[in-house]
Amino acid sequence: MKNPYAYIEAEILDVITETSAIKTLALKPRDDIGFRAGQFMEVTLPGIGEAPFTPSSNHNDPEKLDFTIMSAGRVTKLLHEAKAGEVVGLRGPYGTAYPLGAFKGKEVYIVGGGVGLAPLRALLYALFNEVNEYKKITLKYGARTPGDIVYKNEIDSWKRHGKHIDIEISCDVGDPAWKGNVGLVTTILKPDGLDIPNSVAVVCGPPIMMKFATFKLLDLGFKDSQIYLSMEKNMSCGVGKCGHCRIGPYYACKDGPVFTFDKIKDLPGIWD
Ligand SMILES: Cc1cc2nc3c(=O)[nH]c(=O)nc-3n(C[C@H](O)[C@H](O)[C@H](O)COP(=O)(O)OP(=O)(O)OC[C@H]3O[C@@H](n4cnc5c(N)ncnc54)[C@H](O)[C@@H]3O)c2cc1C
Ligand code: FES
Repeated sequence: MKNPYAYIEAEILDVITETSAIKTLALKPRDDIGFRAGQFMEVTLPGIGEAPFTPSSNHNDPEKLDFTIMSAGRVTKLLHEAKAGEVVGLRGPYGTAYPLGAFKGKEVYIVGGGVGLAPLRALLYALFNEVNEYKKITLKYGARTPGDIVYKNEIDSWKRHGKHIDIEISCDVGDPAWKGNVGLVTTILKPDGLDIPNSVAVVCGPPIMMKFATFKLLDLGFKDSQIYLSMEKNMSCGVGKCGHCRIGPYYACKDGPVFTFDKIKDLPGIWD
């Protein structure tokens, strides 16, 4: 029987510093390990430990996988010290992907906070692969300060994928050079001519941001079933065995991480 914890090796091609706390590792897997936007993988430092991350790259390019990683503790600190040429392990992909088929013909309203833009970047690339299938693509992204914005050098280029792509960034605190909105990301969530009955919303970020963004979307008129949340609960096995990631009757690693709000809204601890 196949060992569910076995990993494949992946060479680090590049390490990109996004912010003082966030780096993107570009990896070349030595074996096939495709994924669909929204799914996650366990990244292993052999002999040291592993942690779950959602690839942030285009799922149509399985030869190079990007992982955008915030330094949060033991494994992520060591991943930040890794250098091009070194080898890490990858197992997965696990969990649910964004249901792109259900998004077709609709307006996709994406709300991200901090490093939560990582899975959303994979989603955006997946939408750009067939950009004319979607009526409108909106990204509302919040960062603490201009220095905390990830993918700074490429966000502007995302608008060039189509005239129906709208991107706005807000910083909780600005600086003298910042010309955009100052305030929490919820302050830029506005009706803006949205065709809400024909829209889906996708939210990923820190739990507190997900909570208030979801409530704002409900205020705007989105239904529970139109809001997709990436629930990045603490995980261990990643394969539905250990119970660490339990959300009521669900395991976030198997039944999620992508859930519609209607499925989980009455369960305890969803915003913890
Ligand atoms: C499905 C999924 C996808 C993820 N994708 C990304 C990603 O793309 N980029 C990224 O930077 N991070 C992502 N994370 C979070 C990442 O897995 C944690 O930051 C990482 O496990 C911390 O490991 P560590 O050993 O460095 O920290 P530890 O030493 O284990 O923990 C440091 C602190 O972080 C807390 N922590 C650990 N895991 C989580 C978590 N899942 N959510 C909230 N707090 C946590 C711990 O409770 C502790 O307080 C994802 C998590 C999940 C479950
Ligand atoms: S992480 Fe072990 S059951 Fe989900």
